[in-house]
Amino acid sequence: MTPLPVTLRLVAVTNSAEQTRALARALAPLCASGDVLLLAGDLGAGKTTFAQGFGAGLGITEPMTSPTFTLVRQYPVGPRSTGPPQGGVRTLLHADVYRLGTLQEIADLGLGEQVEDEGVALVEWGDVAEPVLGRGSLSVRLAVADDDDRRVITFTSPEGSWSERWPALRAALGQWLVDG
Ligand SMILES: Nc1ncnc2c1ncn2[C@@H]1O[C@H](COP(=O)(O)OP(=O)(O)OP(=O)(O)O)[C@@H](O)[C@H]1O
Ligand SMILES: [Mg+2]
Repeated sequence: MTPLPVTLRLVAVTNSAEQTRALARALAPLCASGDVLLLAGDLGAGKTTFAQGFGAGLGITEPMTSPTFTLVRQYPVGPRSTGPPQGGVRTLLHADVYRLGTLQEIADLGLGEQVEDEGVALVEWGDVAEPVLGRGSLSVRLAVADDDDRRVITFTSPEGSWSERWPALRAALGQWLVDG
């Protein structure tokens, strides 16, 4: 008998920045306080674009720009027409660790602790930070496909911590999913 794969994996394809924002917007309501999403992908792959859609899904209306130079930007999660924040999320932290040289510098940002009570963190170039932020995280890797505007977006839950939410994630991403 083949053992079940430990790593959960979903693969989606978007054909425009707007679709990537819509996909991230659909994912956002599934997140709960304490979640850290690691965004991976080359320069210009769409990590910030994804973060913008995710923020919109949390009801954030202020413009979200790249935190490349500020390292971490913090956005209060506004009241939403659908009711109180789901999962107790009151703050979105948007980080970019591209400029940090060591894992210790990333650990020193304290993102895991900051989101513990009522926040969610999105970390651009977060794949390098997996050793310090990986526990309980969802990884999102964006890759530029053959076509300029097409992105292949792969979701994995390295430690299976998203296993309970996996069916809901699959449903939320349904229209963009392809066979992985
Ligand atoms: N399907 C798509 N998904 C996301 N972005 C797309 C897509 N198609 C085209 N784009 C364009 O690609 C660019 C992505 O830029 P973005 O700043 O989001 O990338 P990034 O991964 O955050 O880059 P950096 O590594 O510099 O932080 C934007 O100009 C966006 O309009
Ligand atoms: Mg960016």
